[in-house]
Amino acid sequence: MHFPASDLNPEQTYRLMSGIVVPRPIAWISSVNAHGGVNLAPFSCYTFVSNKPPMIGVNIGRKAGKRKDTAENILANRHFVVNVGDETLLDPLHDSAQEHPPEISEVDVLGLSVLPGAVIDTPRLAAAPITLECRFHSVTPFGDTGAEFFVGEVVMFHIRDGLLQDGKIDTALLRPICRIGGPNYASLGPIVTKRGIQQTPKSIIKPEAT
Ligand SMILES: Cc1cc2nc3c(=O)[nH]c(=O)nc-3n(C[C@H](O)[C@H](O)[C@H](O)COP(=O)(O)O)c2cc1C
Repeated sequence: MHFPASDLNPEQTYRLMSGIVVPRPIAWISSVNAHGGVNLAPFSCYTFVSNKPPMIGVNIGRKAGKRKDTAENILANRHFVVNVGDETLLDPLHDSAQEHPPEISEVDVLGLSVLPGAVIDTPRLAAAPITLECRFHSVTPFGDTGAEFFVGEVVMFHIRDGLLQDGKIDTALLRPICRIGGPNYASLGPIVTKRGIQQTPKSIIKPEAT
């Protein structure tokens, strides 16, 4: 089958792309609402965009043109937390996508416990095996529906004891979940280890050289 991308409306494009760009990791983002409550929602258009400093990026769409609470909170406070959910947290992660008025805290609705941030004022999920405290870096709009790509700098890592071996995450122990199309998720299949391929090391580029 062949068809031009311009044939698709936004919903059709979303249905298609969310089944093509798979599997996606999930940033389970906590942010602080205008009433001081903790907002929580999952976002799977998520990746990391810089090593030094560490930065992550997440695409936040709009509901009928209006910014989602997470986007509003990040812009208002300029900090947020990316919580990494594992298989044990799939139900609350999925349920936290339910739309609520901005003043309602999904953390309260779902009965989740939070811990204070060490560096920023956004709380992080106590049950999450990994949490990343992030400072807002930038936001870039894309396309016709008002989607925005938010970038945050990771200023503090919290990693559950035992998950970090030799500077690397033990992925099998983490048991991460990923999103595929629709309300469908997957966990890790068999891990296949290939030969390491030598890569030229990264270096810090002086500003005048960019
Ligand atoms: C697993 C999962 C991944 C999602 N990924 C995204 C995403 O990448 N971008 C987005 O705008 N919405 C995404 N959503 C929908 C939001 O979670 C949903 O709109 C939520 O209500 C936003 O909450 P908020 O208004 O409190 O920010 C996803 C939903 C689920 C269940």
